[in-house]
Amino acid sequence: MTFNVDISRMATFPLSRRGPQSRILITGASSGIGEALALHYARAGTHLVLWGRNQERLDKVAAQAQRHGATTETLALDLCDTDAALVALRKADDVSPIDILVLGAGLGDIRPENELTELPEQVKTISLVNFTTPVTLATEMARRMAPRGGGNIALIGSVAAFHDLPVATAYSGSKAGLARFSTALHAAMTPHNVHVTLVSPGYVDTPMSQRLEGARPLLVSSTKAARLIARAIGQGRAHLLFPWPFALARLLEMLVPRPIVHRLLRSAEVRQRAAN
Ligand SMILES: NC(=O)c1ccc[n+]([C@@H]2O[C@H](COP(=O)([O-])OP(=O)(O)OC[C@H]3O[C@@H](n4cnc5c(N)ncnc54)[C@H](OP(=O)(O)O)[C@@H]3O)[C@@H](O)[C@H]2O)c1
Repeated sequence: MTFNVDISRMATFPLSRRGPQSRILITGASSGIGEALALHYARAGTHLVLWGRNQERLDKVAAQAQRHGATTETLALDLCDTDAALVALRKADDVSPIDILVLGAGLGDIRPENELTELPEQVKTISLVNFTTPVTLATEMARRMAPRGGGNIALIGSVAAFHDLPVATAYSGSKAGLARFSTALHAAMTPHNVHVTLVSPGYVDTPMSQRLEGARPLLVSSTKAARLIARAIGQGRAHLLFPWPFALARLLEMLVPRPIVHRLLRSAEVRQRAAN
C-alpha cells in the first residue's frame, strides 16, 4: 500500500498547529498570492476561512481547496470598511479560534499619466486596504491569540516599502507603514508565543503585477511565493524578503545619496494597464 504525502507542504505548517482542524483565515484569497496560499494550505484537517471581494472567484478557490481535502467558508467583504472587517474577524474567531491569520489583500496603483500625483480618493482607498484594515485586524488577532497560548499572523507587504517610489507614493508609503507595524508587533508579541511575519515580495506573477507594462525582473510564480511564505510563517520568522537580490538593492540604495536615488527613480518609466 502506498501513501501520497506531500512532505514539502507539511513541513511548512507550524509544528504546534499540526493537530486536527487547523483554522487559517486568509484575506485576498480570491486571487494571486492569497489564492496560492489557500491552495498550499489545503488538506484534510484544515479549515480555510477565505476572504475577498469577488464571490465567484472565492467560490472557485474554495472548491479547489475542498478537492485537496480542506473544509472552507468564504466571505465577500470590502476591506475599505475597517469596522465591518473587525466585526467579521471577531465572529470568525468566536466560532473557533484561528491558528494562522494571513493578511494578504492589497491594492497597487500608480500615478495616472498627465497627473501630478495619484488621485486623493485612490490614496485613501490604498491606505485603508494596505494599512489601516490589516493593522487593525492583526492587532485584534494578537490580543486574542496571546491569552490562548500563541498563533501566527502574516502581513503581506512589498519591497516597495523600502524605496521612495515617486509614481506610487501611496503604495510604497502604505507598505512602509505596514512593514514597521509588523516588525514592531513581532517584537511585542514574541514573548506571548504569537509570531508575526512580515512578507516583502519582489515581483510575483499575479493579476496585480500582470497589469504593469514593461519588465518584471526576477519574477516568481505565485506557487513558489506561497511555498516560501508558508515556510517563513511555519518558522515564525520576523521578516521574509524575496527574491534575495531585492535585499541587496535595499542595502545599496542606503549607500547612495538620496537626491541621486530620487533622480534615478523619477526617470524610471512605469505604466500600467487598466484593471479588469
Ligand atoms: N504581485 C506582486 O508582484 C506583488 C509584489 C509585492 C507585494 N505584493 C502584495 O501581495 C498581496 C497580494 O497581491 P497579489 O499580487 O496576489 O494581487 P491580486 O492578484 O490583485 O490579489 C489582490 C487580492 O486583494 C483583494 N483586495 C483588493 N482590494 C480589496 C478590497 N478593497 N477589499 C477586499 N479585498 C481586496 C483582491 O480581492 P478581489 O480580487 O476579490 O477584489 C484579491 O484577492 C498584496 O498585498 C500586494 O501588495 C504583490
